[in-house]
This record gives sequence, C-alpha cells and structure tokens, in this order.
Amino acid sequence: MLPIANYLGRLPLAGRFFRPALHEAAPSLAPAVICRREPVLAGTALFRSFGVGETRSYALKGVSVEFNPGELNLLMGPSGSGKSTLLAVLSGLLRPDTGAVGALGRDVWRMRESEMERFRLKHCSYIFQGYNLFPALTAREQLEIVLKWGEGCSSREARKRADHVLGQLGLSKKAHLRPAEMSGGEKQRVAIGRALVKNPTFVFADEPTSALDWENGQQVIHLLTETARDRGAMVLVVTHDPRLTPFADRVFELADGQLQSEGPSHESGLPREYEHAALASGPRLRLYSPEA
Ligand SMILES: Nc1ncnc2c1ncn2[C@@H]1O[C@H](COP(=O)(O)OP(=O)(O)OP(=O)(O)O)[C@@H](O)[C@H]1O
Ligand SMILES: [Mg+2]
Repeated sequence: MLPIANYLGRLPLAGRFFRPALHEAAPSLAPAVICRREPVLAGTALFRSFGVGETRSYALKGVSVEFNPGELNLLMGPSGSGKSTLLAVLSGLLRPDTGAVGALGRDVWRMRESEMERFRLKHCSYIFQGYNLFPALTAREQLEIVLKWGEGCSSREARKRADHVLGQLGLSKKAHLRPAEMSGGEKQRVAIGRALVKNPTFVFADEPTSALDWENGQQVIHLLTETARDRGAMVLVVTHDPRLTPFADRVFELADGQLQSEGPSHESGLPREYEHAALASGPRLRLYSPEA
C-alpha cells in the first residue's frame, strides 16, 4: 500500500510555468509576440505504447500540445483514441516512452520520484470517474486531510475551509457521511471538492461528469470553469459529453493517438442549442479563498 502522502499526491493534480526543452533549444526561431500568454504545461512529441513484441500498440503517436493558465480545456475523441493515456502522461502519472512534459519550468519526467510526489501534492489535483475516496473517512475528512497533509493546515483551519467548500457544493448536510452512505453524484461532488479545496495550479479530470445527471454535471463544470477563470488554474477535462464544449476555452480532439484539431469551443462544430447552457448564468459558486 502506498504511503498516504503518495496516495494524496496521485489524487488531486496541478502547476505553473512550463517550457519543454525543445522550445528552449531554439529560442531564436520563436516569433516575437507582445503580451503572449506563457503556457504552464506542455507535452512535446509524446509517444506511449502498451504491450510487447507483436502485441505492442501505440496509444499516443507523437502528440505535442500546450496549455495556458486560467483556461478550461476539453480533451475529446472516440473511445480508445488515447485520451486517458494522454491525461495520465501530462499529469505525471504515466511515463511516456519518448517525449517530454514540462510544467512550471520543470521537466516532469526527469524529476526524481520523491520530487515528483511533492510536485503532485503541491500543484496537482486529480478527479477520476471512480471517485477514489477513502472508504473510512467522512466527506468532511476527505477534504480536511488534503489541507492537513498538503498545506500543513491546522485542524481548525482545515475544518473551516472544508465546510465552506462542502457548503458550496450543497453537501453541508452530508459532511458526516462516508462514501458507502452517499449517492454517486454526492461522491463525485466530494471528489471535486477535495480536488479544488487546496487551490491547485493544475486540475486533471477524466470524465468527471459521466456518472452525473445534467444538473449535477453543470454544477461540476461551473466549478471547474471558475477554478480556471477566477483562480488561474489550468484545467484539463477528458469528456465524451458535447454539452460541455460551450464552457471550454479550447477543445482538443484525439483520434488514434494523434491530435486532430484544437480551437476555441465555438469552432468545435457543436450544435448551437448547447451554447445556451454555457451562457445561462446558473448559480455562481465561489470557492474558499484564503485572501477573502
Ligand atoms: N494498461 C494498458 N494496457 C494495455 N493497453 C492499454 C492500457 N491502457 C490503455 N491501453 C490501450 O491504449 C489505447 C488508448 O486507451 P485510452 O484509455 O487512453 O483511451 P481513451 O480515449 O481514454 O478511451 P475511453 O474513451 O474508452 O476511456 C486503447 O487501445 C487501450 O486499449
Ligand atoms: Mg479513457
């Protein structure tokens, strides 16, 4: 069993400034751009295979991609196209065969394992479809433990912040329940709360709304949007749901391990009627901010 700090480091995910070595090698080739927004996360020429010998197949075939702070990015594509593999490689959970991942000026896959664990714990929040909650902990404790371990918060401060976020997620009355006593939607909201309570630099989410009805799914995407826009986090969400695309700053599409297109969400060819969902104001959920 992993030490608890390792486990926490693998759950939530985040970072700031990142430049791949490739870019550093050829600065003179880059065009001068005034006020250019610097990427905080970048993958360069990423390849990842599974299996050996004749059964070997490539899930990623040379993906290069950059992400800016303060943006909500969607990663879409058919089943088996490599979305989860790319998310895992970019987020420091799965080592690529070749290629580089840079985050906050660091070459992620050249870090020692202990450095990597610290980096994930400090900067990254992860949200998975399977929730990955601790069975023995209450909803409140799931959030508190992240603050105590990750930020060294006092018990009092951790409880205050945990209760604030649970309140914003409509979970105040469920704070004392353990995962086995919660519905799927409630568990997912606790998982989201745990990911966002620590003010992450990077949020990596793999199909965070797939187990939720549309109302709960919208609430989750509102929270992720605000985490990007209000707190400057880079949020990367793998999803199959086209209703989420109007919320995104950029939509990336993978097919057979290769990036097909990227662009602002309005270029994604979504049905127009879905854009109303994004424009509808909805409840403005605010997360706890230590400055507030
Ligand atoms: N641990 C593994 N062992 C062997 N093959 C794997 C493994 N993980 C992924 N693959 C293969 O890599 C390819 C990409 O898988 P991946 O899970 O990234 O796809 P995906 O786009 O996330 O699909 P889905 O939408 O169904 O979740 C698939 O062909 C899959 O079978
Ligand atoms: Mg997947």
